[in-house]
Amino acid sequence: MKTTIIQVKDYLNQEVTIGGWLANKRSSGKIAFLQLRDGTGFIQGVVVKAEVDEEVFETAKGLTQESSVYVTGTIVEDTRSPFGFEMQVKNIELIHEAIDYPITPKEHGTEFLMDHRHLWLRSKKQHAVMKIRNEIIRATYQFFNDNGFIKIDPPILTATSAEGTTDLFHTEYFDQEAYLSQSGQLYLEAAAMAFGKVFSFGPTFRAEKSKTRRHLIEFWMMEPEMAFVDHDESLEVQENYMSYLAESVLKNCALELNTLERDLDKLKNIKAPFPRITYDQAIEILKEKGFDDIEWGDDFGAPHETAIAEDFDKPVFITHYPAELKAFYMKPDPERPEVVLCADLIAPEGYGEIIGGSQRIDDFELMEERYQSHNLTGDSYQWYLELRKYGSVPHSGFGVGLERTVAWLSGVKHVRETIPFPRLLNRLYP
Ligand code: 4AD
Ligand code: MG
Repeated sequence: MKTTIIQVKDYLNQEVTIGGWLANKRSSGKIAFLQLRDGTGFIQGVVVKAEVDEEVFETAKGLTQESSVYVTGTIVEDTRSPFGFEMQVKNIELIHEAIDYPITPKEHGTEFLMDHRHLWLRSKKQHAVMKIRNEIIRATYQFFNDNGFIKIDPPILTATSAEGTTDLFHTEYFDQEAYLSQSGQLYLEAAAMAFGKVFSFGPTFRAEKSKTRRHLIEFWMMEPEMAFVDHDESLEVQENYMSYLAESVLKNCALELNTLERDLDKLKNIKAPFPRITYDQAIEILKEKGFDDIEWGDDFGAPHETAIAEDFDKPVFITHYPAELKAFYMKPDPERPEVVLCADLIAPEGYGEIIGGSQRIDDFELMEERYQSHNLTGDSYQWYLELRKYGSVPHSGFGVGLERTVAWLSGVKHVRETIPFPRLLNRLYP
């Protein structure tokens, strides 16, 4: 019976065949322990010399790292392994012998591993991170579908900039200039006027010259947009969504979290409601913490976000930033027009800004004014302005960075390990 590692629990005390690769091996004269992986999981295969044909034991002893094999044997319980099962191997069929696999069990430097990302993905830790990424994607679709959202796919090639013009990727579009999308938001606002509650999940691009543990050039974003939803109501959706992601990962990725040695209490703490502080309060906290230079109107960098987050054991919303610091489409607070109805969600443990969101300007004249002051001239933004002309309604939305969320929930320090093939300032290979 041919099966996969994840399925072996259904074959207790039965003989099965698994196609896989040799991740690692220990052997003595009498016994060989094969660490096998097949993409669905990892299992130990035990080859006892006295119980198999001599030829099989010789094959086991000679197996090189990452050689591909079919192994046949009986599945038994193994209480010492977190996986719970192992295989008593009867036969090994070598499919392909790998010679001099570059990533050996010893320590390697990050740049070396990144150069071998196409192989590094096979390692246990990377496997665990990608499984958690997959669970976050699955839970995202589940959450939004369960809550009445329609998935809408905005274009990647655009004539407009959604988040400012400094970090756009330019490309030729026949005889026009185009950009790679920084965010699907503007299109999602159009879709929200057609479908009420919508969300997108797709790649976005920022030609940012940032080289930090939180920045990718190409990253994936989840972007919900909701008609008839104000700023406060949007915060509730955000905290419920984040709590749901944490709960789903805890429930469905126990093995992976164990592999990554993630502190589970930190994840159990991610439960709505999350604390909310204003930008003004954040400035006060920073001054108390000895950031003497910070002044009202300054943007927060990573050290500021980390210092603010330290005071809370949950993610914290920082609301009402100065309008000057934020994008052109954010709605001014009617009571205090110098600040906008927006929030960044800051994760604990130094993971920084996970979500950026706001209520959007719904007034035609005000939006036109913003166009002037932000030099959004030309025809390419006209359609966005028109949304404020035909049945404009209060609406809000937010964007969640997938890789930062994966890094945070899995406890991996740098976002480069949370996407299969990261695009970084100095890296387009592999
Ligand atoms: O705060 P940002 O720039 O917001 C927007 O793009 C809005 N249009 C979203 C919306 O309201 N629909 O980006 C949203 C999130 C950030 O909070 C962060 O998690 C992630 O996207 N992000 C990045 N992740 C990795 N690398 C980068 N260079 C990122 N830039 C933003
Ligand atoms: Mg932001």
